[in-house]
Amino acid sequence: KIPLLIDTDPGVDDALALLMAFADERHDVVALTIAAGNVGLQYTVRNALKLCDIVGRTDVPVFAGSPDPLLHPSVDAAHVHGRDGYGDVDLPPPSRQADAEHAALAILRLSHQHAGELMLVMLGPLTNLALALKLDPTLPQRIKRIVVMGGAVTCHGNITPAAEFNIAFDPEAAHVVFTAFPHLLVSDWEATVAHGLPLAEAEQWLGADSDRARFYELISRKTRGLSEDSKGGRWYTADALAMAWALNPEGQLQVESRPLNVELNGTFSRGATIVDWNRQTGQPDNCDLLMAYDQGRFEALVRQALGAD
Ligand code: BDR
Ligand code: CA
Repeated sequence: KIPLLIDTDPGVDDALALLMAFADERHDVVALTIAAGNVGLQYTVRNALKLCDIVGRTDVPVFAGSPDPLLHPSVDAAHVHGRDGYGDVDLPPPSRQADAEHAALAILRLSHQHAGELMLVMLGPLTNLALALKLDPTLPQRIKRIVVMGGAVTCHGNITPAAEFNIAFDPEAAHVVFTAFPHLLVSDWEATVAHGLPLAEAEQWLGADSDRARFYELISRKTRGLSEDSKGGRWYTADALAMAWALNPEGQLQVESRPLNVELNGTFSRGATIVDWNRQTGQPDNCDLLMAYDQGRFEALVRQALGAD
């Protein structure tokens, strides 16, 4: 099995991505490292532990990371995910606490333990990975594949007019990550919008007779409500699409390789991902940008994760 380390800030769409990863037979989740992002770290840690309870995987270690971005304070996304990050539905507390090791140190340790084999899937702000890279710049040499949910490749952002949430939350961390890895797989917000889930069908999948579906139906009520109101019945699940690509690269239909830089200073564009579409910078292509994924395969992976097959 392919060892998988997921850095995440759960988060409603993070939770779906985690259900997908735990349901996949070709991958072995070796750890969850937890970022602040959608909501504060105390909530994202709790939500990750809760998810492990639901899938019966209390053996998977959970490591808390940085409570803040590297430099500047950021706003959260509680307006989408709820104040507790899981739709404010009053869940019972998780059965255990996080492990003691810091997320950045756990990433480095596991990169040695699974050197050359480890896949990283980044579903939140990139603070923990940036810290790990500053501690040990040789880290990328031991990583087989890194998939990042982040950015907006033509600057149609979701948190500002130009920027996507995960990058805008900690642009400096994103800059560190995008300049350190020679090659990243990027599933951005615009791919997310192009691959919304059909809400009416998804409601049926959520009615499946499984603990996973019942749990997910509950925590996703608020975000599904937002989709109904504003997005024409398509449900955007950014982290789930990135996870589908990570778990099932065979579903990739179109990818563009280009250089990508993170804007750190713009008046209106801080946190934007500037893709060098016309290759004017002379920089090497450091990213594969996901442009199209097999929608049927994506939906099948979501159904499987919910036990709705
Ligand atoms: C990303 O931001 C978060 O709100 C989601 O969990 C996802 O990782 C989408 O922009
Ligand atoms: Ca996320």
